[in-house]
Amino acid sequence: MKINKYFVIDFDSTFTKVEAFDVLADISLNGHPDKAAIKRQVAEITNQGMNGSISFRESLEKRLALLHADKTHIPALVNLLKSMVSESFKRNKDFFTTYSDNIYIISNGFREFIEPVVMEFGIKKENILANEFTFDSHGKITGFDKENPLSMNQGKSEQLKRLNLPGDIYVIGDGYTDYEIKHSGLANKFYAFTENVERENVSSKADHVTPSLDEFLYLNKLNTAISYPKNRINVLLLENVHPIALETMKVEGFNVETYPAGLAEEELCEKIRNVSVLGIRSKTQVTAKVLENANRLMAIGAFCIGTNQVDLKEATKKGIAVFNAPFSNTRSVVELAIAEIIMLMRNIPDKSAKMHKGQWDKSAKGSFEIRGKRLGIVGYGNIGAQLSVLAENLGMQVYYYDREEKLALGNATKCKSLKELLAIADVITLHVDGRETNTKLIGVEQFAQMKKGVIFLNLSRGHVVDVKALSENIRSGKVAGCAIDVYPYEPISNNEEFISELRGLPNTILSPHIGGSTAEAQENIGNFVPGKMMDYINTGSTSNSVNFPNLTLPTLENAHRLIHIHNNVPGILAKINKVLADNGINIAGQYLKTNEHIGYVITDINKEYNKEVIKELRAIENTIKFRVLY
Ligand code: NAI
Repeated sequence: MKINKYFVIDFDSTFTKVEAFDVLADISLNGHPDKAAIKRQVAEITNQGMNGSISFRESLEKRLALLHADKTHIPALVNLLKSMVSESFKRNKDFFTTYSDNIYIISNGFREFIEPVVMEFGIKKENILANEFTFDSHGKITGFDKENPLSMNQGKSEQLKRLNLPGDIYVIGDGYTDYEIKHSGLANKFYAFTENVERENVSSKADHVTPSLDEFLYLNKLNTAISYPKNRINVLLLENVHPIALETMKVEGFNVETYPAGLAEEELCEKIRNVSVLGIRSKTQVTAKVLENANRLMAIGAFCIGTNQVDLKEATKKGIAVFNAPFSNTRSVVELAIAEIIMLMRNIPDKSAKMHKGQWDKSAKGSFEIRGKRLGIVGYGNIGAQLSVLAENLGMQVYYYDREEKLALGNATKCKSLKELLAIADVITLHVDGRETNTKLIGVEQFAQMKKGVIFLNLSRGHVVDVKALSENIRSGKVAGCAIDVYPYEPISNNEEFISELRGLPNTILSPHIGGSTAEAQENIGNFVPGKMMDYINTGSTSNSVNFPNLTLPTLENAHRLIHIHNNVPGILAKINKVLADNGINIAGQYLKTNEHIGYVITDINKEYNKEVIKELRAIENTIKFRVLY
């Protein structure tokens, strides 16, 4: 593409995430006893050169002398550098090919390793300006070509002067030598690139600080690959969500802020105004009032299973997609249930308590294997079904009851009613969801229907069981053992006393709602939820959203994607298509799904179109939110 602007891009810590000399040191000093100390020295000298405290030539000479590098180290260096290209450069490969005539790499680094890395991005060989090594007859690096302007102080400015480019010059880099170009009057603008490293004395002198190449392209209206720079999308992660979530979203380029605790309504109302993506766990209440202030909010990620803490109806009305982690901790709950069944069948809670008091009570009375016993699973969802498989593998006969039609896994037997299951099972375990109508699903009447000596587990939700009836049935011996993880009322914090009729009962395992609380589950959640939210932002895909119609979309290739969220009233799709037809736009693909409240229409169109059409689409009555992706 022909334009009258030139983009001068630095290599070390800008094009790549690292300083090539640091990587070269790793390779050339491999096995050297003082490797760590020398590497620290190299990094220190690099920084001194970068922030201007020593001259560039001095820094180059000192570093080369320390490295003991030779020709044989270069291929390995190139390979490593290729894998360390900055994320936003990788994302915007199109930019380099589209504007290849106008892009220059000007670096104080060395041609020998820069060329093979940047030419893969379509950068022209003649547009790469860098130093060159000198070698002795054994291939050892002896120094550098001292005639090359880039080996001198102010070398980048001198190099640009010699190039005499006929247009505006924009410099992007992380170091002082990049700023010098602008300072010497040879560039129109200097952009401090901070994706990999931020140097205060460079950023403070820049015309713009750009946290990624996306931002640079957006500012200069050059974005060919993305519709909006991710660093302008604010993400707020509350309640100490797993660090992997922060890491994933940062790598993607989002501007992420974290907070260890939850926020009270008033604080959140204030904070939410600039936030596009919110991550919470179970404590933060996202009320209608909070949502009233959330004009930029696109997605909420609940880093847990439940979403009761979010006003889903209001979120939907505002076109905010909500995601959760419905099966990230399934396995954790199942493992605990299995362990508890075995412990209870062997009377371990009582035996262990006695041992702690010094009582040796060796006896086989009332102890059973689980093999061959009948396990009754109430609620055959994610957890119930997985428990079914594991329990069967341990030799149990599995029976289940679900209010919905569910496929029996393995040899599991479906019961037609809860009553049938209660009467048949030796062990009963609850895995129903927490809907209100499940309150006291198991009470006096249901305990009466169970076998004498039944083992009973509840790891689902506290209100599902009538606790008074349960405690009476344990005291009477009807229930021979129970494991309870969830309670109708649960302490708000670890400082509050746990009060319950279940305390002190025989063969009773009580745990503080930790069925799903394992390191693995937390990590799974930390991976799963950001994945879903980023899919939504990057592609419009809503798979697994709890409040949006679920659409899994193909990746976007050579098209622009129009994402239209509207109130679910008749005729909107027709209106969208009329606007497109009136503007002569050809539809490459279209996907529509609705739920009770909203309609979600995705239309992929060819890249070339009259941008006025966007205004018309936004103006369609009943539109809640509209965005374009490319
Ligand atoms: P799910 O939604 O996949 O499965 C629930 C199943 O219960 C569904 O198949 C549903 O049709 C069925 N069901 C609902 N009401 C019923 C009724 N009255 N009679 C028969 N079947 C009924 O949920 P998932 O992921 O399997 O979780 C199950 C429960 O475990 C939920 O209550 C969840 O909150 C809880 N949970 C507890 C954890 C803990 O730390 N203790 C961790 C994770 C989940």
